[in-house]
Amino acid sequence: MEDDRIVEQATTTRDTRLSAQARSLLEGMATDLLQHRAQGTFPLEDAVMRLDASAYTCPERFEAEKQRIFRRVPLVLGASCELPSPGDFKTMDVAGIPVLVVRHRDGSARALFNSCTHRGAAVAQGCGTAARFTCPYHGWTFAQDGALVGVASASDFGAVDKAALGLKAFPTVERAGLIWAILDAETPHDPADLLGGIDALLDGFGLADWTFVETRALPGPNWKLAFDAHLEFYHLPVLHRATFGPERSNRAFYYRHGPHQRVIGPAPRPGDAAASEDAADDLYTLGRLPQGDEPVNPLMIGEWIVFPGVSINIFHPNGRRGVFISTVLPGTQVGESVTVQTYLSETPPDAETRAKIAELCAFLAHVVGEEDLPTSAHQQKALAAGVLREVRFGRNEGGLHHFHKWIDMLVDSDDAALAQLLADPCRPM
Ligand code: FES
Ligand SMILES: [Fe+2]
Repeated sequence: MEDDRIVEQATTTRDTRLSAQARSLLEGMATDLLQHRAQGTFPLEDAVMRLDASAYTCPERFEAEKQRIFRRVPLVLGASCELPSPGDFKTMDVAGIPVLVVRHRDGSARALFNSCTHRGAAVAQGCGTAARFTCPYHGWTFAQDGALVGVASASDFGAVDKAALGLKAFPTVERAGLIWAILDAETPHDPADLLGGIDALLDGFGLADWTFVETRALPGPNWKLAFDAHLEFYHLPVLHRATFGPERSNRAFYYRHGPHQRVIGPAPRPGDAAASEDAADDLYTLGRLPQGDEPVNPLMIGEWIVFPGVSINIFHPNGRRGVFISTVLPGTQVGESVTVQTYLSETPPDAETRAKIAELCAFLAHVVGEEDLPTSAHQQKALAAGVLREVRFGRNEGGLHHFHKWIDMLVDSDDAALAQLLADPCRPM
C-alpha cells in the first residue's frame, strides 16, 4: 500500500508538459549526448555529400519547392502567444502566398488566404486587432473566420452567394504553442496528422503560455542558402569570430525526428547557462537526466529545427529563459527569402529583462543580418554565375545532409507518399 502511494506521488509531481513517449525520446537523446561527452566521442556522417549548385539557383526547382513543399507540408506560421486575444491578426507572405493569420473569437487560430473574393485585393495589412476585415478596395467585409458578411452597395452589385465567397481558409491547428497550417485550401490532410510527433517533443517548452516580445524581418537570398547557416555549427568560430568569439566550438550533434532535427553543441554556450538563474536548465551542467518533479528544461537544450525553415534557440537574457525563433521563408523569386526573427519569453519580462532581450535581439539581428546573410548573398550570386557547379557538405555538417535529402525526397513524393513520410518520424534515412 505504502509503495503504491509513493508511486502515485511521483507520477503526479512529474512535469506533465510531455507525454511519456516524448519524454522517453528526449531522454534517449540526452543519454546519448552525455555518453558522447563522457567518452569524448563525436559522430560524423559516412562521407562528404555533394549538391548541385542549381538547387539554389534554378527557377524551376524553386517553383517545385514552393508547390511541393511549401503548399503541402504543415508550416509553422507563428507562435500562439503572438495572437493572444480574439481579433489579433498578422499578415505574411509565404512563398508568394499572402496569408492572414487571425485569432477567432472562439479562441482558435485561423490561417486565411489574404485575398478578397471580389477581385483579389488584400483585406488586411501588417498586424493588429480587428473585429472584422473590410477590403480597402470596394469595401466588402469578412468575419474573423473569413466568412463574407457584407457586400458594399449589394443591390447595385447584383447576386452574390455570400456563403460560398468567404476568404479561402487553410487547414490550421495549434500544437505545442505554435500555429501550423497547410497552405492549400483543398488539401485532403489535417496538418495535425503530418507533424510526426515533433509537436509532442516541442511540448517540452510549454510555449502556449509564453509571452511574445518582438519580431523583425531580414531580407536574404535563396531560402535554402539562408537556412543552411542554421544547420551546422562549423562556421561559428570563423564567420562569427567577431561576435560569438573564435573559441566557440565548431562541432555539433544532430538528432533527427522525421524531417526535423536538433543541433546541439558539445558544451554549454559561453555565458549562456552560466548566466541563467537556474544553471541546471543546461543538461551539461546537470550532468544527468532531470528526475521526478524537476523541470524538463535540460531535456530541451540545443537548436530545434522544425522543417522546412524554422529554427528555435534558447537564451537566458537577465537570467530569464526565452526562445529566439528564426523562420526562413522563400520569396517570390529563386534568389529571395525573408528571415523572420521572433522572441518569446517564458515569463512576462520586467523592464530590465525587456531591455536585455532588446539587446540580445539586436545582437542576433546583427549576427544574421551582417554576417550570415551577406555571406549567403554572395554564395547566391556566385553560384548563379555557373562557374562553381556544386557545393559540398562535410561529414561534420550532418544537419545539411539531412535537410537537403528531405527536400529532394519530398519534392519527388506524390501526395500519399508525402503524407506517409511526414506522419512517420521513425523512418530511417
Ligand atoms: S477587391 Fe475587395 S471589395 Fe473589391
Ligand atoms: Fe551563422
